[in-house]
Amino acid sequence: SFRGGAVIKRNEPCWCGSGKKYKKCHLRADEASGNKSGGQKKKSPYAKSTRDIAGMRRAGAFNGQLMDYVRPFVKVGVSTLELNERIHEYTLRHGHRPAPLGYRGYPKSSCISRNEVVCHGIPSAYEKLEDGDIVNIDVTSIVDGYYGDSSETFLVGNVSDEAKKLVKVTAQCLMRAIEAIGPAVHVIAISEAIQPYAKKHGYSVVREFTGHGIGKQFHEHFSVNHHKGLDCDDVILQPGMTFTIEPMINQGSWRTVIDSEDGWTARTKDGQLSAQFEHTLLITEEGVEVLTLTPAQKRAGKMLIIDGIEL
Ligand code: MF3
Ligand code: CO
Ligand code: CO
Repeated sequence: SFRGGAVIKRNEPCWCGSGKKYKKCHLRADEASGNKSGGQKKKSPYAKSTRDIAGMRRAGAFNGQLMDYVRPFVKVGVSTLELNERIHEYTLRHGHRPAPLGYRGYPKSSCISRNEVVCHGIPSAYEKLEDGDIVNIDVTSIVDGYYGDSSETFLVGNVSDEAKKLVKVTAQCLMRAIEAIGPAVHVIAISEAIQPYAKKHGYSVVREFTGHGIGKQFHEHFSVNHHKGLDCDDVILQPGMTFTIEPMINQGSWRTVIDSEDGWTARTKDGQLSAQFEHTLLITEEGVEVLTLTPAQKRAGKMLIIDGIEL
């Protein structure tokens, strides 16, 4: 609950949403940073306006719709390029734009990452889905200038119990992180929800790739670590903030290697499997809203649904 324009008094609740009095919370930090007027800073620079939030809701909803659209095409024998073309055409047909295409020179409209590919797999006509694969499809849409970003890992044909378990735990990591957040919660609660849980199951958490603020740009401040104990942005979540959580969980080592030929494809260094799920989130006064829920997820009242896995 922010009062735009007003100066916060010493005994009023802090702008950061901690629930503490301003004098017990950010007053000193604001003074130290040159904000001498006793709390001119009443709202995080990361919090979005009502209008931007409405835009983010539309972008997230479309991205979810796109995910449900591509779902039935994820089958043995389909090439990752065919999936990419479906994604591209569906997005254009609805009057929107696929964000990956041309982003920092990225050549395709989606990222499709099979098995040991951690993220940023480039769709190719030569790469066909095989029985037993796990494959992550990461789609990002630009809807009226706003970005929606989400990904799911799909099971292709008969997947081994070990691979299924990795996918299941990865989905649970994202769901646990979403359940852990809300207004006045520090962003590190996300890595605290994810990393010990992954570790308990014998898995590691990728460190080089993080979640991110999102809005009228693909990647905005701040970064969202999924691995505990790394240097992180000192951000307390507040109503109006929009960002992604997108843990990449590895069977073996957390280390990754970028393909030297294409400059994008990130693989596990040890060649073992990696899985990922991603949603775009909005912090609200009450808690958190999952902006990229798919129509099927909305109908089921679930954050994630995986065919063949009970979550
Ligand atoms: N969608 C990815 C993310 O979740 C980013 C892909 S960047 C691209 O942040 F250029 F590879 F598309
Ligand atoms: Co993202
Ligand atoms: Co993404």
